[in-house]
Amino acid sequence: MSDALERGAAQSKRSKWIVIGSVVGLVALIGLGVGLGVGLTRNNNSSASNRNANASSSSNSSSGGGVEQTDPNDPSTFVHDERLHQSFYGLAYTPEGSQLPDCGNSLENVIKDVQLMAQLTSRIRLYGADCNQSALVLEAIKQTKTNISVYLGIYNVPDDNHAAYQRQRDTIKEALQTYGTDHVAGLTVGNEFMLNYLTDNGVQDPNSAIGDQGAAILTQDIADARNMISEMGLSIPVGNSDAGSYFNTKVLEASDYGMANVHPWFANTTAQAAAGWTAQFFEETNVQPASSLSNHPKMYIAETGWPTQSSDEGNKNNGASDASEANLQVFLDTFVCQANQNGTGYFFFEFFDEPWKDVQFGGVEGWWGLFHSNRTLKNVEIPNCSSP
Ligand SMILES: *[C@@H]1O[C@H](CO)[C@@H](O)[C@H](O)[C@H]1NC(C)=O
Ligand SMILES: *[C@@H]1O[C@H](CO)[C@@H](O)[C@H](O)[C@H]1NC(C)=O
Ligand SMILES: *[C@@H]1O[C@H](CO)[C@@H](O)[C@H](O)[C@H]1NC(C)=O
Ligand SMILES: *[C@@H]1O[C@H](CO)[C@@H](O)[C@H](O)[C@H]1NC(C)=O
Ligand SMILES: *[C@@H]1O[C@H](CO)[C@@H](O)[C@H](O)[C@H]1NC(C)=O
Ligand SMILES: *[C@@H]1O[C@H](CO)[C@@H](O)[C@H](O)[C@H]1NC(C)=O
Ligand SMILES: *[C@@H]1O[C@H](CO)[C@@H](O)[C@H](O)[C@H]1NC(C)=O
Ligand SMILES: *[C@@H]1O[C@H](CO)[C@@H](O)[C@H](O)[C@H]1NC(C)=O
Repeated sequence: MSDALERGAAQSKRSKWIVIGSVVGLVALIGLGVGLGVGLTRNNNSSASNRNANASSSSNSSSGGGVEQTDPNDPSTFVHDERLHQSFYGLAYTPEGSQLPDCGNSLENVIKDVQLMAQLTSRIRLYGADCNQSALVLEAIKQTKTNISVYLGIYNVPDDNHAAYQRQRDTIKEALQTYGTDHVAGLTVGNEFMLNYLTDNGVQDPNSAIGDQGAAILTQDIADARNMISEMGLSIPVGNSDAGSYFNTKVLEASDYGMANVHPWFANTTAQAAAGWTAQFFEETNVQPASSLSNHPKMYIAETGWPTQSSDEGNKNNGASDASEANLQVFLDTFVCQANQNGTGYFFFEFFDEPWKDVQFGGVEGWWGLFHSNRTLKNVEIPNCSSP
């Protein structure tokens, strides 16, 4: 398969996305235009509609979705939804209202999210630590008495002289002091930092001289985070997350684990080919290179998923398949249980739709959830298999 074009794709919070053809080192950089468009009708699948006809009966929440509790004052008494199965290795999660300066998240809402996520997985990952989200999630796990482990996250910013890093590090320190590490699986320092750094500098190669300059900022923060953790007498892995094609070797050498965004949608695969493409890309671009490093960082898929709609006409189809619930179903059916069987650690992207991303970026950005933003399950059937 020497002439097969191997492609990687990445989605950034700033909504840039990038597709790489690596066989001849060809790189295509594409900025996703920001703009709001016309809402689109979702494709409906009639059998799935019937399946979900009773969906609202299991919900008693004022905001639509959410979970019923047998004791309204005890979040651990939530009633299990028979449509949900603990079949995901992990889920990508950002609590609603966790962006500065507005924030607006609440323990009440994070508890609802944790009650739902605990029925799907035992692992979640966060992207940042602003707006007290680390403590809120750990408090919600405590109150729901669920056995979820969290990869806490720090969203580093390239040119702020470490200010965003330090602000988030300090709130994570507080959260670790309060909650300990029983439910903390790791601390991810940096999300798409190299992607953003390279894009800002008009460079593509993460291991170029400019790439190494960005990496030096990040490895300094990673070392600082390790130092904080060991000074606290704690021991948790410290890692990094980035777009699949954007790992700098020095960053990986400084990390216990790497989490790679691998997005078949942005690589223009069909929904049917998406699972195989994701597995192959991750193996070739991330797992194999990492295994040759002396520290053997463990590699995970940080994000993979399929959007269910677009807010503009142009992004409704990726050139091969539609953004639709039917195609999310195809990806769920072909990826989740096979990835479990293959022993792949992945974080499905994502728990629920994020309206702030739709407002800010448009297109498919806000529409990757398994759940709508009101916490009702989309028109999909959750695969039923056990996760590792
Ligand atoms: C909905 O719930 C009612 C009452 O529990 C039950 O009789 C009916 O079969 C359910 N419908 C579906 C589509 O599951
Ligand atoms: C759910 O809502 C119904 C109608 O408002 C109410 O009668 C019922 O007590 C609620 N159940 C719980 C567990 O809060
Ligand atoms: C939740 O949001 C979805 C998508 O907007 C909508 O179709 C559904 O009716 C809402 N459900 C509730 C209970 O509000
Ligand atoms: C952060 O969240 C925790 C858990 O709910 C709470 O105890 C703490 O007071 C919060 N801190 C701030 C600054 O809101
Ligand atoms: C909770 O999860 C951890 C790691 O995922 C596991 O080792 C532990 O046995 C679990 N505990 C319970 C009570 O299920
Ligand atoms: C994917 O499809 C979009 C829309 O048709 C197109 O603009 C883009 O160039 C394609 N990308 C690749 C890598 O084929
Ligand atoms: C699982 O592994 C098989 C064999 O290597 C591969 O063909 C398949 O694409 C993998 N699927 C997933 C979802 O990991
Ligand atoms: C899900 O799988 C488990 C284990 O195989 C089985 O006991 C259960 O009945 C399944 N649930 C559904 C709804 O198929």
